[in-house]
Amino acid sequence: MKDYLVFSFKENKLLASLLASSLHAKLGRISLTHFSDGEMLVKSAVNVKDKDIIVIASTFKKAHEKLFALLLLLDSLNRAQVKSIQLFIPYFGYSRQERVSWTNEPISCEVVSKILETAQYDKLVSFDLHHPDIEKFFKRGIVNAMTTELFKDYYLNYIREHHLNINDVVVVSPDHGANHRADCLVKELKVHKIILDKVRSRPNQAEHLQLINGDVKGKTCIVIDDIIDTGGTLVSASKLLYKLGAKAVLAGASHAVFSNNCLKKLLRAKINDIVVCNTIEQRPSKYVKVLDISPLILKYID
Ligand code: R5P
Repeated sequence: MKDYLVFSFKENKLLASLLASSLHAKLGRISLTHFSDGEMLVKSAVNVKDKDIIVIASTFKKAHEKLFALLLLLDSLNRAQVKSIQLFIPYFGYSRQERVSWTNEPISCEVVSKILETAQYDKLVSFDLHHPDIEKFFKRGIVNAMTTELFKDYYLNYIREHHLNINDVVVVSPDHGANHRADCLVKELKVHKIILDKVRSRPNQAEHLQLINGDVKGKTCIVIDDIIDTGGTLVSASKLLYKLGAKAVLAGASHAVFSNNCLKKLLRAKINDIVVCNTIEQRPSKYVKVLDISPLILKYID
């Protein structure tokens, strides 16, 4: 076993501790200070020469600042002559801008990938990227680790505990873009898939118009998505599903951004169960269950 040193910014402190304890590794310390004009100075606060480094860095909330801090950290580690760097970005900021949706838009996600690839690292892993096409932006490669196995175990347990008949459970893809994710879960749970038609009149404004296929009458609907941000997608999906006779709506997503009073809206929309991963650190809450991705990270460490 290598002698790893695990670094993280404050967004992933808990996840880094869980990982370090599974690896019997030490946690590295980052020194992040600001100059009077707001510029950052980021460096390792411990000796890293000849060490095998693991960096955990979700680029969440002001993703551009987090990205820049990460680039400075990577530069500082390389200049200090580390042996290797394995970079894990559990939540990849800007990943939702992976194509042009409206006239004159940039493909921000591709811009971020190009910037990130100017840094030196040996391996890059992210989790449940918004769309599989994003992988193509990374010329040096990115591993897109799916979280399906965590959700599979969670929902099999849920179905058992709630004495549900598996034939009365469906997995719902809240839009066409989320189809591949729903497919992964459908394969594991061996249930039917329902696809919804989602339109956006502007960013962060979702509306579900109709079911593309199937029937949800009397069914427990597991809506599976990559991100819960404002909650608009889930609220609108659950409205439609209940209107069409669903018995219950459950929500699962890898990344919990939870902006704009999202949780209140989800509870008001009668979403019976909410489960997310710790790609973004969550405050403990009785309404949200959190699945730990550190066992998944372990699988990708060389
Ligand atoms: C968009 O296509 C994503 O897959 C999510 O559905 C979306 O980002 C969720 O955002 P919100 O919770 O604001 O609807």
